[in-house]
Amino acid sequence: MKLPCSPTTLALALGIASCSLHTLAADVEVLHYWTSGGEAKSVAELKKIMQAKGHVWKDFAVAGGGGDNAATALKSRVVAGNAPAAAQVKGPAIQEWAAEGVLANLDAVGKAENWDSLLPKVVADVMKYKGSYVAAPVNVHRVNWMWANAAVLKKAGVKAMPKTWDEFFAAADSVKKLGLIAVAHGGQNWQDFTTFESVVLGVGGAKFYNDALVKLDPKSLNSDTMKKSLETLRKVKSYTDPAAAGRDWNLATAMVMQEKAAFQFMGDWAKGEFLAAGKAPGKDFLCAASPGSANAYTFNMDSFAMFKLKDGAAQKGQADLAAAIMGAEFQELFNLNKGSIPARLNMNMAKFDDCAKLSSKDFVESAKAGSLVPSVAHSMAVSPAAEGALKDVVSQFWNDEKISIADGMRNLAKAAATR
Ligand code: BGC
Repeated sequence: MKLPCSPTTLALALGIASCSLHTLAADVEVLHYWTSGGEAKSVAELKKIMQAKGHVWKDFAVAGGGGDNAATALKSRVVAGNAPAAAQVKGPAIQEWAAEGVLANLDAVGKAENWDSLLPKVVADVMKYKGSYVAAPVNVHRVNWMWANAAVLKKAGVKAMPKTWDEFFAAADSVKKLGLIAVAHGGQNWQDFTTFESVVLGVGGAKFYNDALVKLDPKSLNSDTMKKSLETLRKVKSYTDPAAAGRDWNLATAMVMQEKAAFQFMGDWAKGEFLAAGKAPGKDFLCAASPGSANAYTFNMDSFAMFKLKDGAAQKGQADLAAAIMGAEFQELFNLNKGSIPARLNMNMAKFDDCAKLSSKDFVESAKAGSLVPSVAHSMAVSPAAEGALKDVVSQFWNDEKISIADGMRNLAKAAATR
């Protein structure tokens, strides 16, 4: 009998059987920020796969939506010379960590498992540093979504999900008349920015979004379209409740579930939350692209980077984790729970719901049309420093009605100069 050689089974194994190096198991410490109901269910699938391979999953979960707290925790661990085996790192931050020389090269597993042919180029490029894989993607989240409670819309006489901002504000007024909250929001900077970037995309379109928020072009940041975007954002805020400050995103989703609020602007991890609570898409809750943005797609990909470790067993654990992440079985199970779609191409979408199918279709179509754009709020587009500065400005604008639109634009342009 051969047992997996995890430290806990090793002593036992030595007593009863030989334990081959091939199955040498490792403690694999994984830093992530998936702590809400739907998120925890999703990450549990990865844990199960790793345990089935004989490894010991050491959970390093840092609560905090959007991952800012996790990023801070990761920095202090790496600086202290005590990096975890793997960490949820994404977008340009992958490049920054790789440039520090602390990431493990995943080309061996990437080649063996044929990642180049399994991933869309736009995804693979983010995972590579100087042509080598240094991260493995778990999913593609769409950020420009609007969620709604079907029963609340019905009560308010709203017949369909609003397609334009005018339709949205008319629907929001009808909800308000019922004495309910029109927009469930959590006042944290990444949630403010999630709403802001959906507004910019809906008001200005994908090209404007790219110019203003990705290329950080000063002219676009100071334009009539940005003025309109900030006016619209301020108007959306007027439909949120006074207790929104500091609220976690999943609590805002719960307000929609509990018929306290009608709409939420949030990426499709919100769907993971609805599903974990037993709610059915198309029946209990509805999904639609945020107003004006149906032809565009703000993407947000979760991925894991592996840190350089010396221990052979730990390296084997990392390779197994990377292979598991890209496996078809995991990509399906994880994404069914998470609300996202698989990062891997040619997956069978039969088990996925209509929101995921729409996301999958729009991902492909927007890529062809040139309207697939990276999410700034979710660390896909600009350097972490510029992202932080932009988020601060948008949240100040969101929280302080005394900041004029002109000052809001000026502050954005200043923040955009942070590199
Ligand atoms: C991550 C998601 C996560 C969400 C809320 C996003 O930035 O990509 O995986 O569920 O934040 O924490």
